[in-house]
Amino acid sequence: MTDKIIFATGNEGKMREIRLILADLGVEILSLKDAGIEVEIQENGKTFEENAVIKAKTVMEASGTLVLADDSGLEIDYLNGEPGVYSARYLGEDTSYRIKNQNLIDRLSGVPDEKRTARFVCVIAAAFPDGRIRTARGTIEGIIGYEERGGGGFGYDPIFWLPEYGCSTAELTLEKKNELSHRGKALRAMKEELERERAE
Ligand code: IMP
Repeated sequence: MTDKIIFATGNEGKMREIRLILADLGVEILSLKDAGIEVEIQENGKTFEENAVIKAKTVMEASGTLVLADDSGLEIDYLNGEPGVYSARYLGEDTSYRIKNQNLIDRLSGVPDEKRTARFVCVIAAAFPDGRIRTARGTIEGIIGYEERGGGGFGYDPIFWLPEYGCSTAELTLEKKNELSHRGKALRAMKEELERERAE
């Protein structure tokens, strides 16, 4: 395996999480900015897998390096999986999460706990310079709350309630969120995959 991996994101918060989890691979992890790569990525897949693979492949083709990319979102069962792959674009990319979250709470008005089930999903794709593609998926199950709770995390965290912890994902420490989250799980699964590839 190479001594360098590009993680195809511009999000510094994600890079911190990723560097922490992949630290003991002993490989340098570069963001798109670190690698000086500017490419147009068409995120037009219908699934998290398709979008993650599109991002990883596009950047691998531009760089010739092993590239990891992720795609993630919130699936609400009562809304047939919405917002799903459109989570970032739901009600418009520039609309605040206060508005997005309140809108989802309103759409679930009168819906009882047992029908408010939801999950965060994250898929990480790896695109190797020789053309091989690998993917890893992680999920965390919860229910949609009745109001926003907590100031940590980002996005839909304040309305994502974990009944077994009695808090929202916006009320977890970063360490605890990494341990439980869809992204943490997918990253650790991908790390194992990369370690297997390296051993072969
Ligand atoms: P992307 O994976 O960067 O394209 O963004 C997916 C979108 O899903 C984010 O913009 C958030 O709206 C939502 N999302 C993904 N992971 C989380 C999370 O851990 N907490 C809250 N919202 C999330």
